[in-house]
Amino acid sequence: MKKKVRKVVFPVGGLGTRFLPATKSMPKEMLPVVDRPIIHYAFDEARAAGIEQFIFVTGRNKSAIEDHFDHSYELQHTLSSRDKHNELALTRDWLPPAGSISYTRQQDPLGLGHAVWCARNLIGDEPFAVILADDMVLSEKPCLGQMIEQYNKTGGNMAAVMDVPREKTKSYGILDIENSEGKLVTARGLVEKPDPKNAPSTLSIIGRYILEPGIFDVLETQKKGSGGEIQLTDAMNTMIGKTPFYGYRFDGKRYDCGNRVGYVEANIAFALDRADMKDRVMEIMKQFVSKE
Ligand code: G1P
Repeated sequence: MKKKVRKVVFPVGGLGTRFLPATKSMPKEMLPVVDRPIIHYAFDEARAAGIEQFIFVTGRNKSAIEDHFDHSYELQHTLSSRDKHNELALTRDWLPPAGSISYTRQQDPLGLGHAVWCARNLIGDEPFAVILADDMVLSEKPCLGQMIEQYNKTGGNMAAVMDVPREKTKSYGILDIENSEGKLVTARGLVEKPDPKNAPSTLSIIGRYILEPGIFDVLETQKKGSGGEIQLTDAMNTMIGKTPFYGYRFDGKRYDCGNRVGYVEANIAFALDRADMKDRVMEIMKQFVSKE
């Protein structure tokens, strides 16, 4: 029987240079979308998918992430003494049980593959999920939950995939498609960030993965690839033949918080998704459009 996917890795070591100066003294994963940090959405998604262990691969200047997933006693005491029960709940009611969060550091920014490899001792010999918090997905059923359901039937390495315009292939891991049936795509190869003219398709990996633990042996000796970095895409590509790679065409819409315009778009989309603010935000947007 296949082992259950119980653990998730959040690679959060990036410098966030695209968001300077906002990220000068604050991790980019702590930037809010509406009223919660980007990393909080990733955490909620993993939890809703049944994940029990949350592993953060951090770097220097990321302690705000650790503080976010902990009690804030002074604030909680003040809120409690003022009978602010709803606000108090927002600071703590979602905290996971003690011992279910681990942190490890990637001392040098050597790439996504290297960041995932840094979690090897915390994962051990079982399949695990990876969420890149920059990629936010709005969907009825959490994207990772959809993938775990599929993984339980097929196993293998898996990533969420979607088509992108051909001129954008240089920003993504791209599938060389062997077979496509419904939501499930089998790849015969993967290429990290190919030029549009060389891209084997326009089907792109977005930041949700389920990986077999065998990936760690491959990452151990993985040579630098695109951008001079150790790439997760290259390691999954090496495994094809022994471990199949599946792309999963998820239900939902993805927002790219890795760039400023995508981040603004995500704020609008997630605000419109909130019953408590939808109407007012829509009204404001109509006013902007009518002025244009
Ligand atoms: C990473 C992966 C890439 C994937 C992308 C999704 O790239 O290396 O394969 O398509 O995430 O967002 P990055 O955006 O970190 O450069």
